[in-house]
Amino acid sequence: MTDEARPPRTAVVIPAAGRGVRLGPGAPKALRALNGTPMLIHAVRAMAASRAVSLVVVVAPPDGAVGAAEVKNLLDTHALPERTDYVVVPGGETRQESVRLGLAAVPDDVSVVLVHDAARPLVPVDTVDAVVEAVRDGAVAVVPALPVADTVKEVEPAEEPGAPEQVVATPVRARLRAVQTPQGFDRDTLVNAHATVALTGEGATDDAGMVEKLGAPVVVVPGHEEAFKVTRPLDLVLAEAVLARRRANDGF
Ligand code: CTP
Ligand code: MG
Repeated sequence: MTDEARPPRTAVVIPAAGRGVRLGPGAPKALRALNGTPMLIHAVRAMAASRAVSLVVVVAPPDGAVGAAEVKNLLDTHALPERTDYVVVPGGETRQESVRLGLAAVPDDVSVVLVHDAARPLVPVDTVDAVVEAVRDGAVAVVPALPVADTVKEVEPAEEPGAPEQVVATPVRARLRAVQTPQGFDRDTLVNAHATVALTGEGATDDAGMVEKLGAPVVVVPGHEEAFKVTRPLDLVLAEAVLARRRANDGF
C-alpha cells in the first residue's frame, strides 16, 4: 500500500472520569457493571470493534478509590482486540477538561480523533464506522444523532427546583436532533477547539458544540437507539435488556 492509499490513523478518547451522580450512590459510573462487566469495558470493546480504531485513550477518575492505575489494571484483565493499543490518563473536574487531557495523550501521527462517552457502552460498530467514514470523506466534525421523540420547550429555569418555569420558546420538533457519541473530528480542529473555547461552569457537554463556536462546519449522521447514554437508574435496566436481547439473537 502506498502512503497515499493508507487511511489516516484514528484514535478514540473515552472520557470515563465522571462520578455518575444522577445514577445514585455507588462506584464511579464507568465502573458500574452491566451483566457483570464494567460499563467502561463494554464501551472500549464497542470502539475497538471498529477496524479503523488503532488506539483507545481512556480518561480515568482523577482521585478516589478507583484512579488511573485501577482502570489500567481493569483493561489489562479484560480481553480486547490485539490490533488495538490503549493508554489511561487521569481526568479532570468537568467532561471538557477530561477530553482535553485525553487529547493531550494522542500521538502526533493520528489525524482523526473520535470522542466517545464511557456512559454509552452499547453503541453498534456500524455507527462508529459511519462517523469515521464521514470524517475520512472530508467533514471536520461529525455527530451521530436521532430525531427527538418528545416536543422540547425552552424555559427560563426556576431558582428553586420544582417551581413552575416560564416557557420562552417551542422549537419546531422536526428540526431538532438528540446528539450521541462517538463524535468524530479532524484532529487539529478538535485540538484547536479545546485550546480556544473557555472552560466556564460545568464546561461543554458536547465537543461538536465547541467546534461550532470556532465557526467550523459540523454535520450530523444517523445515530442509533442503542447508543443511548446511561444516565439514570432506569437506563441500567434498559442496557441490560439490550444485552440480553443481543445474547438471545446471537444464540448463546
Ligand atoms: N466525564 C468525565 N469527566 C468528568 C465528567 C464526566 O470524563 N469530570 C465523562 C463521564 O465519565 C461520561 C461522559 O463524560 O462517560 C458523559 O458524562 P455524564 O453522562 O454526565 O457522566 P457523569 O458526569 O459521570 O454523570 P453525572 O453527570 O450524573 O454525575
Ligand atoms: Mg456529568
